[in-house]
Amino acid sequence: MSLSDLPAVLGIQNELGFQNWSLKQFETSLSSSSLLALVCELGEELVAYLLVQILGEEAELLSIAVQLSHKREGIGSRLWNEGLLQLKEKGVQRLFLEVREGNSAAQSFYKNHQFINYGIRKRYYSDGENALLFRFDF
Ligand SMILES: CC(C)(COP(=O)(O)OP(=O)(O)OC[C@H]1O[C@@H](n2cnc3c(N)ncnc32)[C@H](O)[C@@H]1OP(=O)(O)O)[C@@H](O)C(=O)NCCC(=O)NCCS
Repeated sequence: MSLSDLPAVLGIQNELGFQNWSLKQFETSLSSSSLLALVCELGEELVAYLLVQILGEEAELLSIAVQLSHKREGIGSRLWNEGLLQLKEKGVQRLFLEVREGNSAAQSFYKNHQFINYGIRKRYYSDGENALLFRFDF
């Protein structure tokens, strides 16, 4: 992900109704070596992105998102598989994430990729929804 990708990345973020990062946060975080930020392009079009924060041997998946019109085409899987390779190369051993309890598509995606649901955080989100906790062991 480079600075010129940010309008398209923010476009996907808005389309999905995520309240993740502002343009400013992206701009300041992209230069950090502790952030793995990947995008997937189909021809000229940016259709998905992945953000992972790396903290030594541990990492946190901040976001994985695919444009609505390209869901369920294997793009999220390709992006995760590439992320997995790069995180392995950086010596990451465990990756954690939270996902909304009502987001069954993402939960199926993570289970399909051998993530383990190891817990729940009650009323984690500001609207009161629970978070399911997943981890991936490399
Ligand atoms: C979750 C997400 C990244 C998956 O990306 P994707 O490109 O659509 O997923 P893939 O096509 O690679 O799917 C791989 C597998 O995940 C599972 N899966 C993906 N979407 C699913 C859905 N809507 N319902 C059930 N299972 C699903 C299936 O097992 C699928 O394999 P299959 O198609 O052979 O059955 C995508 O749906 C997305 O962007 N969601 C909105 C953002 C989000 O919720 N991100 C996660 C929280 S940060």
